[in-house]
Amino acid sequence: MKTIHGVKGFHDVVPPQSERCTEIEGRLRAVLAAYNYGEIRTPIAERTELFTRSLGDATDIVEKEMYTFDDRDGTSLTLRPEGTAAVVRAALEAGLAQRDQVAKLWYLGPMFRRERPQKGRLRQFHQVGAEVIGRDDPLVDAEVVTLLMDCLGACGLDGAELVLNSLGDAACRPAYRAALAAYGRSRSELLCANCRQRLDRNPLRLLDCKEPGCRRAMAEAPLAHAYLCAPCRAHFAEVERLLQAADVPYRVEPRLVRGLDYYVRTAFEVVAGNLGAQNAVGGGGRYDGLVADLGGPPLAGVGFAIGIERLLLATATADYRTPAPEVDVIPLSIEAAPAAGRLARRLRGLGVRCELEVAGRSVKSAMRRADKLAARFAVLIGDDELRAGRATVRDMRRQADHPLALVVDDDGPALAQALRELGAAGGTHE
Ligand code: HAM
Repeated sequence: MKTIHGVKGFHDVVPPQSERCTEIEGRLRAVLAAYNYGEIRTPIAERTELFTRSLGDATDIVEKEMYTFDDRDGTSLTLRPEGTAAVVRAALEAGLAQRDQVAKLWYLGPMFRRERPQKGRLRQFHQVGAEVIGRDDPLVDAEVVTLLMDCLGACGLDGAELVLNSLGDAACRPAYRAALAAYGRSRSELLCANCRQRLDRNPLRLLDCKEPGCRRAMAEAPLAHAYLCAPCRAHFAEVERLLQAADVPYRVEPRLVRGLDYYVRTAFEVVAGNLGAQNAVGGGGRYDGLVADLGGPPLAGVGFAIGIERLLLATATADYRTPAPEVDVIPLSIEAAPAAGRLARRLRGLGVRCELEVAGRSVKSAMRRADKLAARFAVLIGDDELRAGRATVRDMRRQADHPLALVVDDDGPALAQALRELGAAGGTHE
């Protein structure tokens, strides 16, 4: 029969990569908990309007990358392309986003964008993100950026660069947009078809186009900083001062724009040198108008998201392997299988990573197998062991039978004691 393949851009995660994912996610959770953020889980599908209203009509995501379909009752639904809009919606519905209240939330889960798949760019990918709703203070921008860097640091990402910009706000951005559009129009014959279309609808994105012709055409384009109003300028200066005080290195990149339209003032990205074209490991910024745009009170917001797959690529270690079992339990005869099964289950119940072998191998082949698994200890149960009621524990590292013996049918204290000794010997368990 014909094999059924997975969908292009939608990847399986198999061991040992899945083990790395779990480990990285654990580290991220620990940092987010230390910063006192609460976890929020929102559904994968939302009403399409949530994204068209928040991300911007003239963004690549809304124009051509969303997975949108009609539900059976005709409601248009979309698989979430990002987390921020849904978190704001959910926070509003749960009463977490209110005046005089600050919501600090984080999330982790799959996002969907129908982009052209390549290294570091998938159609289903995973983000871990954090959002602070309800404070417009630069202190929060600095905390969010620091949190992002601490998350990346905890996962072992070194040498990535933080780039920072201010995009202005509703007061000063219209003049900047107009200046950029006018500049682009004066060189429109040099721009790609995509950028020409964007001239009026989304001129900020002209700065972001990777086409060499567009890069050349926009090389001398006006920069946001010259157009910032006094409050935006002061806000950005304070963010910079706080980041410097926190020893977070960054580079101001006046050409940094983001692929989503809800940003005002602070915008940032972290780029890793070893990722090729898709080099942004994470990004975010301030979105002070978004809560009101989604029908809530006029609350400020700021946050970031990290792409888990890109983080895994950027921190890839060539020799990552699934952790070896601590114990390989080996029944040397069919008769020994039930006792071996019970023993393995008790070990697993105590949190010991434990493999259980099929019954009836020769000692030699069982040892080869334990060796291959790189198990710390092999626990052998044959007829002799069954008679004596004690299993033989072989220390695989020292290639010697351990003086310790596990009690085959013990259901408690003796096993715990034996494990403690095993742990002391192997450095594995208390
Ligand atoms: P974003 O820059 O669109 O921001 O995505 C954040 C990160 O998700 C990127 O830096 C990248 O690592 C990863 N990513 C994006 N698209 C893909 C893809 N197709 N394949 C693999 N990884 C991808 C946001 O989504 C905003 N919601 C971030 C934010 C939170 N802003 C404020 N709060």
